[in-house]
Amino acid sequence: MKLLYQSSMAGWKVWAPTLAAAILSTLHGCGAAEADRLIPLDSHLFHSLRRISLPVVSPDQQRALFATSYYDPDANKEYNYISILDIELGNTTQLTPAFEGSDRASNLLWLGPSTAGYLSKGALYQHDLAPHTNGTLLFNATQSINSATYRSSSGLLLFTASTLADGKISSVAKYLNEEKNRTDSAMVYNNLWARHWNKWMGDQKSTLFAINTTREAYGSWNLGREANLMQGLPPTKDQLLRWEVEGYTASEDGEHVAFVVRNPGPDMAWSTNVDIYLTAADGSRIPKLLTGTFKGAASSPTFSTDGSAVAWLQMETPGYESDINRIYVHNITTGNVYSVARTWDLSPQSILWSADNKVLYALTPDRGDRRLFSVEIATGKHQPLTGYGFVSNVARVGSSKLLVVYSNVTESSDIYTIDVGSSVSGLRGPMKRLTSINGDKLGGVYLSEAEDFWFTGALRDQVHGWILRPAGFNATKKYPLALLIHGGPQQASMHAFGLGQWNPNMYASAGYATVIINFHGSSSYGQKFTDSIHQQWGGYPYEDLMKGLDHVISTYSFVDASRMVALGGSYGGYMANWINANTDRFRALVAHDGQFNVVAGYYSTDELWFIEHDLGGVPFTTSGREKYDKYNPERLADKFKTPTLFIHGANDFRLTLEQSLAPWTLLRRKGIPSRLVYFPDEDHWVNKMGNSMRWYEEVFKWMAQWTSS
Ligand SMILES: *[C@@H]1O[C@H](CO)[C@@H](O)[C@H](O)[C@H]1NC(C)=O
Ligand SMILES: *[C@@H]1O[C@H](CO)[C@@H](O)[C@H](O)[C@H]1NC(C)=O
Ligand SMILES: *[C@@H]1O[C@H](CO)[C@@H](O)[C@H](O)[C@H]1NC(C)=O
Ligand SMILES: *[C@@H]1O[C@H](CO)[C@@H](O)[C@H](O)[C@H]1NC(C)=O
Ligand SMILES: *[C@@H]1O[C@H](CO)[C@@H](O)[C@H](O)[C@H]1NC(C)=O
Ligand SMILES: *[C@@H]1O[C@H](CO)[C@@H](O)[C@H](O)[C@H]1NC(C)=O
Ligand SMILES: *[C@@H]1O[C@H](CO)[C@@H](O)[C@H](O)[C@H]1NC(C)=O
Ligand SMILES: *[C@@H]1O[C@H](CO)[C@@H](O)[C@H](O)[C@H]1NC(C)=O
Repeated sequence: MKLLYQSSMAGWKVWAPTLAAAILSTLHGCGAAEADRLIPLDSHLFHSLRRISLPVVSPDQQRALFATSYYDPDANKEYNYISILDIELGNTTQLTPAFEGSDRASNLLWLGPSTAGYLSKGALYQHDLAPHTNGTLLFNATQSINSATYRSSSGLLLFTASTLADGKISSVAKYLNEEKNRTDSAMVYNNLWARHWNKWMGDQKSTLFAINTTREAYGSWNLGREANLMQGLPPTKDQLLRWEVEGYTASEDGEHVAFVVRNPGPDMAWSTNVDIYLTAADGSRIPKLLTGTFKGAASSPTFSTDGSAVAWLQMETPGYESDINRIYVHNITTGNVYSVARTWDLSPQSILWSADNKVLYALTPDRGDRRLFSVEIATGKHQPLTGYGFVSNVARVGSSKLLVVYSNVTESSDIYTIDVGSSVSGLRGPMKRLTSINGDKLGGVYLSEAEDFWFTGALRDQVHGWILRPAGFNATKKYPLALLIHGGPQQASMHAFGLGQWNPNMYASAGYATVIINFHGSSSYGQKFTDSIHQQWGGYPYEDLMKGLDHVISTYSFVDASRMVALGGSYGGYMANWINANTDRFRALVAHDGQFNVVAGYYSTDELWFIEHDLGGVPFTTSGREKYDKYNPERLADKFKTPTLFIHGANDFRLTLEQSLAPWTLLRRKGIPSRLVYFPDEDHWVNKMGNSMRWYEEVFKWMAQWTSS
């Protein structure tokens, strides 16, 4: 058991390093009253925190590019700029001016030893490494470049751009002109998979291209003709269901390319058959199917540094999006395919080869942390290189260093290095911090540590949770409780500093004892625990949440069990509705993009595979219907009695707007206090910062209304 709470005076108050020394002496000199000088993390401050992109290491391994994004709440504008980091010295210099709104730079890359590249306004720009100069347009062959990658050793530029069925960039402009002349706006579908996430399927699909480049001594570029690397894929019948690239990578020498595509066809909405193809970077060969033996989803292809092999992650179970990811390696030279670390009971989310190709570094959720593991290819031996906290990205620096982006409950994301020594023997020394992106903002701010607890939940299994103490904490007082319920359901609340709707310190700073429980079905506790939610949506997870709350109430005397609120988004919003149908122990609930009617939800969702797998079939057979009804909150509509705030985005095609309108109508019709917050311009998430600020304002107002006395 990981107990992070320190019992020393005010030890659970954590602060950022910049002001730490000053505050530390104050705290220890003067006691808890002084600790109250720490200001709460409020919405204005939270939304003005900076975010960093993954760092991209230079060809000489000395420097890295990264982007810093920020929001100005007063002007309601979002910006970012690119900086350059000296990896050895740890100093950074801002390279570009700030880009505003939709002009923000993305997809940073190196175009040469001292030339940075980035996408902005749908085009590729180059920027020489002189600070405060402007970038210049390098490549704009198409309406919009969606993504790009570059291999400076061979001059290979890979990029994705939207095309019509002919796969030609040149046809797109004409098509768009014709579209402007249309007298109607109808979109017509013959097959499912008519929409996904927040978009209706259109005629254009993202296609992968390669282009040769050379750079003259005086700096100007020669670009060759683009080659469509997906040209040789089998033709498809329905022009709306075509091959579309979801990910890709090239070998270091620029010879081989691997790309990820979902198999097009009328079963796309209920199949998870995502494949990886291998092809030659010059488009001279027909792409070769690498993952043909599997009908589950493949992801994260990555070439060994010598280009002789490609590794990837493979779910072996068809139709199951939360299956364990197995590591596979295909040796291109010998044709051998083998799996690595088959008995490992954790599911890596991305992999990277070590410089000597003997180890794969795997970002892997592990009991509420996302840790970087090294996995020895020959033996499958694996060991963690990081501990508590969340590693969001990793990049290789030379042969013995890794660059990671790391956060934890009390620290927002920053760049660190890890010395890995000889790759097989793993970790050499602690992480070294290179940046402190929000040090000036978070110094002196109240941030509660997460105190972990374990309790006996459903199936008599040990279940993990944690609690954060509210701002201004005084052990002799009682505090209202906020229970945060994660979505997925096959995800987990993690020891991380998220900048979205569910950062637990936002709730702790608002005055709540904040509780998180990684119920049955959560990822990162072994595959059996994840799988156990099958046909159990309202079963084991609900039992865990109730037993976990009982444990918290009997363990932490500062919790006021008569003033509790439960909140969740997506599956967490489904659970808020299920709670409403099953208990009245909460004063109020918040359901964000939740689900109320499981049967109706089936018929309007985009990804049918997910619900068909989780509920064990379809709702239009007698036995299937019973399974859908079993944990359907709508079936228990007469039982709802808890005041609820519903929040929904119009463009959420996973759980559609009706899934909040319906329970809101129910509560209004029954005369139960309730409120609807509708975002016409949001989807399954809250993307716009102004909307996110309003979201927190509405949620905190609702929580306070029901728990203040
Ligand atoms: C880091 O500091 C060194 C020494 O002062 C300087 O030469 C270098 O340009 C700096 N690098 C960056 C990226 O700021
Ligand atoms: C960079 O671009 C901005 C905006 O167009 C312009 O005001 C500025 O003068 C340019 N700076 C340089 C060094 O060219
Ligand atoms: C790129 O080309 C397209 C089509 O000609 C044009 O509409 C767009 O403005 C160009 N983008 C940039 C950044 O110049
Ligand atoms: C669009 O309509 C205008 C006016 O009728 C016509 O001149 C133009 O050629 C049309 N463009 C296309 C691409 O059909
Ligand atoms: C790039 O150049 C090489 C050597 O001239 C050629 O073989 C290859 O086909 C070119 N690739 C593309 C995508 O044009
Ligand atoms: C692939 O096989 C070749 C030939 O046996 C070998 O030289 C190479 O090291 C292998 N690649 C990897 C990454 O194991
Ligand atoms: C969280 O991250 C900070 C900064 O790296 C570190 O000092 C602190 O020890 C971490 N917290 C825990 C509990 O590991
Ligand atoms: C905690 O609350 C009690 C009761 O209200 C009060 O007497 C005490 O001074 C408070 N302690 C601190 C450190 O504020």
